[in-house]
Amino acid sequence: MVNEADITRAAEIVAKAKNLVAFSGAGVSAESGIPTFRDPGGIWDRFDPDEVGTTGGIFSAAARKPEAIRSFLSETVETFEKARPNPGHFALAELERMNILRSVITQNIDDLHFQAGNTRVLEVHGNLYRQRCLACNKKTKLTKEKYLSKARSVLIEAKEFDLSNLLTLMPTCECGSSMRPDVVMFGEAVQVVPESIQEASTCDVMLILGTSGVVYPAASLPRYARGSGAKIIDINPREHPFADMSDVVISEKTGVALPRILEEVKKIRGE
Ligand code: OAD
Repeated sequence: MVNEADITRAAEIVAKAKNLVAFSGAGVSAESGIPTFRDPGGIWDRFDPDEVGTTGGIFSAAARKPEAIRSFLSETVETFEKARPNPGHFALAELERMNILRSVITQNIDDLHFQAGNTRVLEVHGNLYRQRCLACNKKTKLTKEKYLSKARSVLIEAKEFDLSNLLTLMPTCECGSSMRPDVVMFGEAVQVVPESIQEASTCDVMLILGTSGVVYPAASLPRYARGSGAKIIDINPREHPFADMSDVVISEKTGVALPRILEEVKKIRGE
């Protein structure tokens, strides 16, 4: 049961916000069917980050045990094919349309904030559907459908699977060089860091949504917000890693709590 007093307190803070920023993690997409990383049964419970969390690891494992990597990647394709924004994503998009939410900083690569309708999304760990040229750094984005249907034909429908199948997934850049998915693997540089710090340092309210707060530098963003005097609302059904700096802590799924907060904000603003 959602605690109504906490929802009301959060809605009062959000309704008064001039610069609301949301900081999201995998939990926000859990209700879209995408497993989180560190919950029991999550991705890092089932797969070895050394094998699937780095580019070198994937290629090395694909050479040694192609069927295991094929199965991991096929499952990923099927999960993303089914994933659609959930009520939590849509509530954030509505808060942006109401000119309350300024931006979303997300650790997720699933594109679901954009698909829900948010237009200012800072993706610190990249986006699965975007490709980056290894030579000229040019970035392009394929539609979800185009990218996943190509991945399905190479990973799921192809009779044989080996490294060369994996390589054909990426388009060739107009400069002639190879491209790679524009996602941040372990040990790689996090994206849009100065912009994210700027957003966090200048917001007056930050919503922390569905993150375990253990992966840096992203996990330091709430401290920038708090350090600049922002109010913090942490929504997570299982744990509250930022409880020490939070004004309101809501132990509930974001897909439940965010639509309730939105409803209350609309009442407060007479909309
Ligand atoms: P984690 O898997 O570490 O944490 C997910 C959080 O979501 C946990 O705190 C859960 O309690 C919470 N959660 C679960 N279901 C939820 C729901 N329905 N609503 C709200 N919260 C829910 O995921 P992240 O914190 O996003 O990095 O992980 C950070 C980074 O670690 C990821 O971006 C990824 C990973 O390694 C890279 O791949 C570079």
